[in-house]
Amino acid sequence: MEVIEILREASKKIYESVKDLAGTEDAAGHFGIGAGGDISRNIDIIAEKTVLDYLKKINFECIVLGEECGKVELSENSKGFVIMDAIDGSANSVRGVPFFCSSLAFATDNKLSSITDGVITNLTNGEMYWASKDKGSFFNDSKIHVHSKEPIYKIVGINTSGATSELMQKLNPIYEQHNHTRHFGANALEMAMFARGLMDIFIDLRKKIRIQDIAAGYLIVKEAGGLLLDEKFESLDADLSYETRVSFIAAANQKILDDVFSGIKM
Ligand code: IPD
Ligand code: CA
Repeated sequence: MEVIEILREASKKIYESVKDLAGTEDAAGHFGIGAGGDISRNIDIIAEKTVLDYLKKINFECIVLGEECGKVELSENSKGFVIMDAIDGSANSVRGVPFFCSSLAFATDNKLSSITDGVITNLTNGEMYWASKDKGSFFNDSKIHVHSKEPIYKIVGINTSGATSELMQKLNPIYEQHNHTRHFGANALEMAMFARGLMDIFIDLRKKIRIQDIAAGYLIVKEAGGLLLDEKFESLDADLSYETRVSFIAAANQKILDDVFSGIKM
């Protein structure tokens, strides 16, 4: 079985296991602090266990880097890392806000740039975004590309949840000049929607995002033709450590990047 098929199957199983749970009291059950530093909720634990059980069942020789469970070595002859955010948008999923997803990626080495496969599944409806290196990005069965035409409404995705006042001040021109700013609460799904051309740029400069939240999105954005940059406007890369936190900008092209960041000093 190809790695991409394994990740797609694992994502389907997450969808089946949590689709009736979101927004219920049961979803919220508290399991202490996970490896990524946030509270692990029952819905997170159930979703992660679904993936781990499946990978064990098919004997996939890998090391799992889960947001809640931490590093789980499923084999001594590992082929690489499965980077797992079984529920991205946990707050939405617990409250029942219909915007949350799973994010699964496979990397051959300890770097974002070694990711070969990624799958993001919208857990409110089972829609799937996926990519394999050099093979393009897909939404269900259709190939996708970042938005290439001049947009009718320019949609600027920007995550400022919990941002410092210093960052808010720096980003203020974006809010003043681009009046279709959006943030939905699940970075992975927002990266996927950006890759599908539903947003023109997606920005998260809080230096808070974990590797698990962006690993699958990293490949899906790149394979869909998007620019993926760090806060210095250099090509984004990072290691897969639990301490790593990144800032990033996903832009459909240089023109929109220049347009949105004109007047901002980084
Ligand atoms: C969160 C989401 C959210 C972002 C947070 C992340 P989680 O992931 O991606 O959009 O603002 O920084 O922690 O915790 O729900 O997996
Ligand atoms: Ca999560």
